[in-house]
Amino acid sequence: MKGDGRVIMISGANRGIGKAIARMLYEHGFTLSLGVRRPEQTFGLEPGWDPQRVLYARYDALDPGTHADWTQSTVDRFGRLDGLVNNAGTVVRVTVEDDKEAELDEMWAVNVKAPLAMIRHTLPHLRNSGSGRIVNVASIAGKAVYNNNVGYAMTKFAAVALSHATRRAGWEDGVRCTALCPGFVATGMTADVETFPHDQMMEPDDVAQMVLTLFTLSNKASVAELVMNCRDDVTM
Ligand SMILES: NC(=O)c1ccc[n+]([C@@H]2O[C@H](COP(=O)([O-])OP(=O)(O)OC[C@H]3O[C@@H](n4cnc5c(N)ncnc54)[C@H](OP(=O)(O)O)[C@@H]3O)[C@@H](O)[C@H]2O)c1
Repeated sequence: MKGDGRVIMISGANRGIGKAIARMLYEHGFTLSLGVRRPEQTFGLEPGWDPQRVLYARYDALDPGTHADWTQSTVDRFGRLDGLVNNAGTVVRVTVEDDKEAELDEMWAVNVKAPLAMIRHTLPHLRNSGSGRIVNVASIAGKAVYNNNVGYAMTKFAAVALSHATRRAGWEDGVRCTALCPGFVATGMTADVETFPHDQMMEPDDVAQMVLTLFTLSNKASVAELVMNCRDDVTM
């Protein structure tokens, strides 16, 4: 059991990539604090899980009060915190010539500002861990501009910047931070993609496998960025 009881917070753990990460970490011995918008619907999501090792808490990226409360309830319940996965995210198409201010503001709030807030709340506890870990699920859209959705790309570039700044902020206290940058993953988010076949996209479990590795590396092995893709990527 690699997790050895270490406590990891995962946002957006009710479906898609977040759910796969939760399953992978649970199976490897981690204790989980799962931040979801509707915990009452998520409770009992995984029958057979030991309730001693799982907390479901309310996390709404657009409700700052839930950021502090989720962090506090995690530490109150388990007495420690060892990792944070900022996974929850949203995508709306906003092009250079669109005037979709509300949609753009929401993407900034969910994809950038809320992850920053979660890092601020959790960093003191992760420093105490001695080997704290933060994984920000950014995107390959945070490494290059692939299509006309400049709104999403801007937020994911910012998430990568946030990851680098966080790595530096926590470095001396053993906190390691990674910007995880997947290409297409077969989830609800990509269900409507027409430019690439859904059945050839990476599986959420592929991403989860990488997160498991990031959480089991020693402090001497820092992974600043991890780019993964389902196709040959000529821009990298
Ligand atoms: N799928 C891909 O190809 C891909 C590639 C690169 C990066 N990513 C990134 O990976 C992360 C997970 O994406 P996914 O593919 O698993 O998408 P998904 O299946 O659409 O799941 C999105 C998750 O984010 C949560 N979420 C959305 N808005 C939220 C809010 N305001 N507050 C709290 N939670 C919120 C959703 O909760 P609800 O169920 O309550 O809506 C859900 O749990 C995102 O950051 C995404 O940008 C995805």
